[in-house]
Amino acid sequence: MKRVVILGATGSIGSQTLEVIQRFPDHFQVLGLVSGRRSPSQTAPYVIRADEAGAEARIEELVTHPDCDIVVTAIPGAQALRPTLAALRAKKIVALASKEVLVMAGELVMAEAQQRLRPIDSEHSAIWQCLWGESLESVSRLVLTASGGPFWARPEADLDAVSVAEALAHPRWSMGPKVTVDSATIMNKGLELIEAHHLFGVGLDRIDVVIHPQSVVHSLVEFVDGSVKAQLGHPDMRLPIAIALGYPERLPGVIPAAQAAEVGRLDFHPLDPDRFPAVGLARRAAEAGKGAPACLNAANEEAVAAFLRGELPFGRIIPAVAAALAAFPGTGPDLDAVLAADEWARDYFKAKSGKLPA
Ligand SMILES: NC(=O)c1ccc[n+]([C@@H]2O[C@H](COP(=O)([O-])OP(=O)(O)OC[C@H]3O[C@@H](n4cnc5c(N)ncnc54)[C@H](OP(=O)(O)O)[C@@H]3O)[C@@H](O)[C@H]2O)c1
Repeated sequence: MKRVVILGATGSIGSQTLEVIQRFPDHFQVLGLVSGRRSPSQTAPYVIRADEAGAEARIEELVTHPDCDIVVTAIPGAQALRPTLAALRAKKIVALASKEVLVMAGELVMAEAQQRLRPIDSEHSAIWQCLWGESLESVSRLVLTASGGPFWARPEADLDAVSVAEALAHPRWSMGPKVTVDSATIMNKGLELIEAHHLFGVGLDRIDVVIHPQSVVHSLVEFVDGSVKAQLGHPDMRLPIAIALGYPERLPGVIPAAQAAEVGRLDFHPLDPDRFPAVGLARRAAEAGKGAPACLNAANEEAVAAFLRGELPFGRIIPAVAAALAAFPGTGPDLDAVLAADEWARDYFKAKSGKLPA
């Protein structure tokens, strides 16, 4: 029996994690639920809302509690970093949905992880599964699949005129607002590229992105002998969640298997870097290092939040992130430097507020 703490319990990943736990009561028990402003609909021995007094210290106590076996991190953005690091330092298993954690502080987090970090992001879960039983030396390339979001298949769409409702209407996945907007700008894939680089120790120059509108192939791994492995499944996050919680056991009947004859065709297309420059921007930030990925992440969070508030056109989200990165002076690799880079980007946006094109 594994006792689980869920960070982000009221969200999309959090509620699907609760569903998986309820389906397998002989395997898992909920120890604690952490949310932002909403209260979870179910109870648990420990329930913490982040807007309560003293919440930060109580969350740290919970993720390091001796009774806690697994921490599921599903808080969007930089807020997920501290509790994830605390859980890993306390030798807990962390099932990670919050890709921002590895984008901001990949080296620091991986130094603490010691095989205890399990991906929930479907692409990284796919790569992880393809790598079971393989040696890293035999891997030549990782290929992340991207659905393309709502605008990839609409080249005529004027991205500056996109409404919040249009950006939130993802064709394949039902997710929280931040990650849904990231999918529409394809920054989500940029963040995932950095996440994959840290998680699997593969060079950035050996990780690619391909558009796959059906979202059935969740990612691919190419090997030095020319073999390619892929993981297929219906687009349903309960599967990668169950894999992260249950590893090394595969839990029975989590979702129905994708039937090849029903799936029919699978399409793959190259990503157009001019129309969707976010992946290239993320790649360059990761190559630059010195806090640039943390700056990219915070600038993206601020730009997405400004778009959701109606203060920034959709088509200006990525140019605004690029402008912040261009002005960023660079920091260093330790936690203080990462947090300083995060703060720098948020101050940059505050200083720009009112001057962003509405
Ligand atoms: N959804 C997906 O299918 C999916 C797939 C892959 C990866 N991810 C990643 O998973 C993470 C979560 O995404 P999501 O779609 O589940 O987001 P979401 O639906 O917006 O849920 C976010 C959750 O985090 C909580 N929260 C917000 N700020 C918090 C804080 N400061 N402290 C504690 N809890 C806080 C929210 O609580 P309140 O609602 O009470 O404010 C909510 O429970 C993101 O990093 C995303 O990129 C998501």
